[in-house]
Amino acid sequence: MSLSPRIALIRIAIATINHMSSATGADSMSKPAAASSSDDSDQMSFSISQQVERVVADSLIEIETLDEASRNQTAAYRTLKGRAEAELISFDTPDHRVAYIRVYVRSHALMLTQVLQQCKVASDALLEVWKRGERLDVVSVGGGPGSDVLGVCKFAEMNHCMARGCVSFVILDRQTDWMYDWLSVTKKMPAYFHSTYGHFDASNANDVAKCPKLFSDCHLVTMVKFASAIHASNPVPFYTAMFDALRPGTIVVLVDNWCPANREDSFTTDCKKAADKAGMTCLLKNSAMEVMSETYENELAELASAIKLSQGNNHHKPYYGKKMLVYVWMKPTSAPVAPAEDQKPL
Ligand SMILES: C[S@@+](CC[C@H](N)C(=O)[O-])C[C@H]1O[C@@H](n2cnc3c(N)ncnc32)[C@H](O)[C@@H]1O
Repeated sequence: MSLSPRIALIRIAIATINHMSSATGADSMSKPAAASSSDDSDQMSFSISQQVERVVADSLIEIETLDEASRNQTAAYRTLKGRAEAELISFDTPDHRVAYIRVYVRSHALMLTQVLQQCKVASDALLEVWKRGERLDVVSVGGGPGSDVLGVCKFAEMNHCMARGCVSFVILDRQTDWMYDWLSVTKKMPAYFHSTYGHFDASNANDVAKCPKLFSDCHLVTMVKFASAIHASNPVPFYTAMFDALRPGTIVVLVDNWCPANREDSFTTDCKKAADKAGMTCLLKNSAMEVMSETYENELAELASAIKLSQGNNHHKPYYGKKMLVYVWMKPTSAPVAPAEDQKPL
């Protein structure tokens, strides 16, 4: 187990390390011996749903227990406005973490995939990294449950880039126990990514002071349903420090709760103001992105069968067919970037 110097500055937890070792771009990376199971073929298909189902199955937690935890979480999230997520929801126990993963991760992951696919400037910039044979470095803020990781992996697969390079994730979250829920799964996943969990509380001044180290050399920052989790915990210093730290060309994706097109959503207003102040180029704003399309038929079919398995429990499809608020920004480069894409719902 080795610690990255960059992350050594924070309390650290190392998750499973899987390296891609196929033909292009990643030859210098060795495939760990533990990754030689039948699941570790060089297969290119990647199913978000299957990964989630493995976490649930491997947890050995009774479905009734998970259902109960889900009901509590869903009820708590309905009262989130004006309150920090940490006040309402604890991810300290495996029951609550696995319940969250089971209910929310699929749809959150696919939202991110969908945004990356639909924002051409961003997707071209990310694909360019792989075309150069480099590793894509991603920092996911509040990414503990793994949604952001799965969403980016799906994006790589959909663009046939799994074999061209690997992805490295730094997952920053105030709760790092999420990694224990994923360990049994990531050990068996095809070996194309590397992930590190770092304890990071974005509302803590000491952690915010580490932003220059954490965010200065990544290609992509993801914040999926993070703005709503932190909106009541004085997030401005974090957003400001994070945007300031980014190097030119870095893409930042924010996906959060829908709000009417004619007003700002208070969950995300602070982030948008900080982005404007930092001079970020807005590549995409969509205050009513419809989640899901025919592109995701396979994932949807798997989701449908998962829902069928627990009839009567409607917690499993919280966002499909619903609308989300999306921003994609780019840290300006010295060269002019393409103009903002259509602001209308896609
Ligand atoms: C609603 S979940 C979203 C998780 C994931 N991005 C997704 O889309 O499924 C919010 C996450 O933010 C984390 N979180 C909440 N407040 C935080 C803070 N102040 N600093 C860092 N992470 C925080 C929680 O632990 C949780 O993992």
